[in-house]
Amino acid sequence: MTLSKHVPGDTGVGIPWYHALRCPRCHGALRNGSELRCDACRVAYPIDHGIPRFVPPDNYAEGFGYQWNRHRLTQLDSHSGMPISRDRLLGASGWTAGELRGKTVLECGSGAGRFTEVLCETGALVTSFDISSAVHANAASNGRFPDLRLVQASIYEMPFPEESFDFLFCFGVIQHTPDVERTFKTLFRYLRPGGRFCIDVYAALIAYPHPRQLLRPFTRSIPPARLYGMVESAVPRLLPISLALGAVPKAGPCLARLVPVATHRHLGLKDVRTMRNWSVLDTFDWLAPRYERPQTRRRLARWTKDLALHEVSIQRRRGLHVIRGVK
Ligand SMILES: C[S@@+](CC[C@H](N)C(=O)[O-])C[C@H]1O[C@@H](n2cnc3c(N)ncnc32)[C@H](O)[C@@H]1O
Repeated sequence: MTLSKHVPGDTGVGIPWYHALRCPRCHGALRNGSELRCDACRVAYPIDHGIPRFVPPDNYAEGFGYQWNRHRLTQLDSHSGMPISRDRLLGASGWTAGELRGKTVLECGSGAGRFTEVLCETGALVTSFDISSAVHANAASNGRFPDLRLVQASIYEMPFPEESFDFLFCFGVIQHTPDVERTFKTLFRYLRPGGRFCIDVYAALIAYPHPRQLLRPFTRSIPPARLYGMVESAVPRLLPISLALGAVPKAGPCLARLVPVATHRHLGLKDVRTMRNWSVLDTFDWLAPRYERPQTRRRLARWTKDLALHEVSIQRRRGLHVIRGVK
């Protein structure tokens, strides 16, 4: 796949790299202009501030769009000054920057782009998309990378040629989709045979007993701005309690989980303001999603067998299963 340069946020007419996109309905070529048009389907896809959009603006991920545009920078390594996202991506995937350089990477559900930044810094040719308006936060932060292509689209209707990417990356996403098995299996259609993948998902046994599971059925229907205000006012009170409980010898981790607030004790965040900021973001991220469907290791193993994937490893990392291997 040959990539040409583009400037995310470019408001000029059309998309210079439109030839790399396909109509998500019929997989045919698109015609470039002030919109992208599929003549066969008679559909026009808008270009919003330089980002082609292939989904309706109001979809089930509205809360994510809200959260990532409010917290555009919070989790970016270039903002925190700590290699948190870089260590997580390279540590979990086992990929090196050298292996990624010059390769095509498909990043699915990119949010504000904390991992987009890491992937782009390796010199990879990154195609990144999200179903929500988070793509605009990503463009504002990572638009400086000339080899980044950003699209607003859904995993279920991707506007790319099948079997065209060297690497497939998807963190923090599949549990938040309506049909996790279908999501998982759809992702692989876009990875070339021999291409490498790394996907993570909430692990079922860890995630279910958490008190947020009791709250979310109520909180997920609260409008995002209202829920965000509630979380923002609760965190300064709840975070110190959770941290104090977490410091109790032995029982600490279990006790801290009784308080429905996200702490990031393991990350060593440098000051109270930063800790609060991360906590507001992740507590909202727990309570707002329409869907949250953690998965068992056994189910994941079955799906990788169904797809005849190679060199598969499924590792448990901090409440997540990380699935990686080769197609
Ligand atoms: C918890 S966030 C993770 C974002 C990013 N990967 C990260 O780790 O920071 C989950 C993201 O998945 C996106 N998402 C959910 N369903 C999706 C779908 N069907 N297609 C594309 N993105 C989706 C949401 O909009 C949201 O930005």
